[in-house]
Amino acid sequence: MKLGIIGTNWITQQFVEAAESTGDYQLTAIYSRHEATAAAFAAKTHEATLYTELPAFFASDLDVVYIASPNGLHAEQAAAALNAGKHVIVEKPMVTHPSQLALIESAQAAHPECLIFEAARHLYDPNFAKITALVQQRRAALTGATLVYAKYSSRYDAYLAGENPNIFSPRFGGGALMDLGVYSVYAAVAWFGVPEQVVYLPSMLASGVDGGGVAHLHYADVDVNLVLGKNYNTSASSEIYFGKTTLQLGATGSLDELKLVGAETADLHVTQPANPMVDEARYFAHALMTHDQNAFEQQWQLAKQVHQVLGDLRATTTIKFGNDPQ
Ligand SMILES: NC(=O)c1ccc[n+]([C@@H]2O[C@H](COP(=O)([O-])OP(=O)(O)OC[C@H]3O[C@@H](n4cnc5c(N)ncnc54)[C@H](OP(=O)(O)O)[C@@H]3O)[C@@H](O)[C@H]2O)c1
Repeated sequence: MKLGIIGTNWITQQFVEAAESTGDYQLTAIYSRHEATAAAFAAKTHEATLYTELPAFFASDLDVVYIASPNGLHAEQAAAALNAGKHVIVEKPMVTHPSQLALIESAQAAHPECLIFEAARHLYDPNFAKITALVQQRRAALTGATLVYAKYSSRYDAYLAGENPNIFSPRFGGGALMDLGVYSVYAAVAWFGVPEQVVYLPSMLASGVDGGGVAHLHYADVDVNLVLGKNYNTSASSEIYFGKTTLQLGATGSLDELKLVGAETADLHVTQPANPMVDEARYFAHALMTHDQNAFEQQWQLAKQVHQVLGDLRATTTIKFGNDPQ
């Protein structure tokens, strides 16, 4: 498939390397706001046609667009790509407010030949599927979970220095919940279902977004806590509790361990590829090339539930984004 990219930061380079390693994609078009940035990206990857205008980029001969722009631009760009007849792989979070899902949904409905997937990469890690199966098998014994994802951001020093990085800006839907919490909410909804009640207690930054926080997800039978932060590091593991036995899984975004401890002990971890985006790139390629409608429907329904929960969590706080509905 001919691949076009929006966003020229390191994550796009990692995705292009992962995608091309599968043999199913070839980078053919690079969009950047600045030609020099597009050219520098091509120099780091390989030759491709450069665009500085989105309409010309979308009108070009492309099969699939990978979107890794600031969060607040995802929904509009994804809908524009679908409306131009392209498949879409959009970075997490696909939207910054659940109301934006309708824009994407109607664009996809108007172009049913095109599919869209959110690049929530942990979903495609074989360790994620192992946890899903284990929770299903042991659901009756489930007594709760603590899902952790906290990492000192490479942009936090710039934020402290008075710069205004997008990821700490409400203008672009930044903050810990949207950036890292999305991984834990995906995990919670995929493993335990949609919670009955949610609340988020953010640790607010002066910019108006959350530097971190603690969320509580209440289910009829269990309670799940999410611990997230972009201004500290933790070595604490995420854990799922089954009475006397606990499953430890590392950070929800990386699933870098998977072991049973307590009454039972076992190491269940599957080795991961060096590039963490290879599994998702392969999954998307197969789904797009075979027009796997079931895969699309399943992931779309999950994404809708996740973004509704994220919206409900944010509604319990004072966090407001630049493109929220008035
Ligand atoms: N899956 C993962 O592991 C992972 C890891 C990191 C990030 N991400 C996701 O990838 C996305 C991009 O993250 P990032 O940290 O790379 O973001 P970023 O640096 O703030 O922006 C990404 C790109 O968007 C363009 N851009 C920057 N500011 C813009 C503005 N004001 N208006 C329009 N375009 C602008 C830039 O490309 P040009 O200058 O070329 O236009 C830039 O390279 C986010 O959604 C993030 O959640 C995912």
